[in-house]
Amino acid sequence: MSELVAPHGGGELKPLHHPDFERAEEAKRAESLKKVQMTSKETSDLLMFAMGAYTPLDGFMGREDWHGVCAGMKMKDGLFWPIPITLSADKDLADSIGEEEEVALVDEETGTVMAIMEVLEKYELGEDGKTFECQHVYRTSDTNHPGVQKVMDQRPVNLAGRVSVVNEGEYPEKYKGLYLRPTETRALFAEKGWSTVAAFQTRNPMHRSHEHLAKIAIEVCDGVFIHQVLGKLKPGDIPAETRTVAIQAMIDNYFVPGTVIQAGYPIEMRYAGPREALIHALIRQNYGCSHLIVGRDHAGVGDYYGAFDSQHIFDTLWDGALETKALKIDITFFCKKCYGMATAKTCPHDKEDRVMISGTKQREMLAAGEDIPSEFSRPEVVKILQEFYRNQ
Ligand code: ADX
Repeated sequence: MSELVAPHGGGELKPLHHPDFERAEEAKRAESLKKVQMTSKETSDLLMFAMGAYTPLDGFMGREDWHGVCAGMKMKDGLFWPIPITLSADKDLADSIGEEEEVALVDEETGTVMAIMEVLEKYELGEDGKTFECQHVYRTSDTNHPGVQKVMDQRPVNLAGRVSVVNEGEYPEKYKGLYLRPTETRALFAEKGWSTVAAFQTRNPMHRSHEHLAKIAIEVCDGVFIHQVLGKLKPGDIPAETRTVAIQAMIDNYFVPGTVIQAGYPIEMRYAGPREALIHALIRQNYGCSHLIVGRDHAGVGDYYGAFDSQHIFDTLWDGALETKALKIDITFFCKKCYGMATAKTCPHDKEDRVMISGTKQREMLAAGEDIPSEFSRPEVVKILQEFYRNQ
């Protein structure tokens, strides 16, 4: 019998969309409301609400929750939450919205009306508030950090309230078969008889270090859920369409059938390192995963975080904050002396014996048409990446 972790907060999953038959009507009604434009990050958060990945939230956060989450990772009712989920609007528009007025939330890139929100609160963060958010959540207010830049670029007034999603845009169709919702993954895990499931969060086509992390997890859990980012990334990152195919090639050729499920989710990376590792775990709890693999510099960018900060932060949580645990794994690589994959914890040899290529270096090599060593990446994966770079 499969016994999966309970959704975050201990209750039922809470997808924030209308039942199907109400949607067309709601979408029509939404057209007549004042429109609030959402950035791609806000739209991605809305999609996370829609599918219940942000259970048990009801919508975008008010000031008290925002403050508690930034300062101490706690909502005003005591619920653990590590990253603020907010929506911003221009001042004139915000001023024109009355108390408890319903507004339509529109994806600014496509112009699609995606949700109706009952506005319960409006609040300004100002420069000080944004800096406060960045210092706590990103551990820096340096605008060279891509996540910090997005916070600084937010519009001046945050709008908070309950959301009800009427349209999930193009993702579900575009990533058919991959775009699994927490209710669906839970059913899938149960069907397979899995109770302990390790999620592998990734925004990269998987090379052998990633494969090794997933295989370590398979040794100690019932299965692995390879869960990749479908939302926006940094320029230069490999697009989801290519990544998905590359990952599938690796699964088909190097994993025991039935031990892995590949899927994707619409989150946009914030690159908040440790805090983001925590929200990755929280989200995976909603998907039914008992563990999240946390390796080196999880969700980091540049040199803003120490290599294992994203692991250490799990030790600072209070009892009951989060059920899903970090599966902490040291740096993985191929060692020529061990003649196989190893980790810094198991390999006694020197750095010179280890085949380690940074993501940037690999991109440069691929762009220059150079071969990628098979100790680093599987040839089936490399072939797909080479093709992608050739067509650039
Ligand atoms: S991200 O969310 O951390 O940005 P990424 O695809 O770069 O995604 O990494 C996926 C996971 O693999 C993360 O947990 C990361 O810490 C881990 N990881 C990547 N490369 C290595 C490595 N060489 N050794 C150990 N862990 C790694």
